[in-house]
Amino acid sequence: MKVKRFGVSLEEDLLESLDKLVEEQKFPNRSQAIRFLIKKNIVEEKWLENEEVAGAIVLVYDHHKKDLQKHSTDIQHNFHDLILAVQHVHLDHDNCLETIAVKGKAQRLISLANKLIALKGIKHGKLVMSTAR
Ligand code: NI
Repeated sequence: MKVKRFGVSLEEDLLESLDKLVEEQKFPNRSQAIRFLIKKNIVEEKWLENEEVAGAIVLVYDHHKKDLQKHSTDIQHNFHDLILAVQHVHLDHDNCLETIAVKGKAQRLISLANKLIALKGIKHGKLVMSTAR
């Protein structure tokens, strides 16, 4: 896509914040940082407006916890049309890490993630909200 240049006027403290972001996140320049912020805003809007989005649900749990995997599988079958792929990694003797790639209407993805994260025995769960395009 063609790149256009434009001038930006910013208060000194905002410019300092931008430069801090560039430094901390190792952006190559200010343009890349501004691009990142605009994209982030667009993605957040899509999730707020219940558009078609994509993301990942990350779960860490103890596979010895009774019925946890059964309940998780039941929930995933109820939302099967949203699930693109599931990756299961055995972290150690007790712990499993599951990454569930999802795509669909934002509200349904949130609903699926909330149901999985709330299961008894889940040690940590997080929905990564990204974009389908
Ligand atoms: Ni495992």
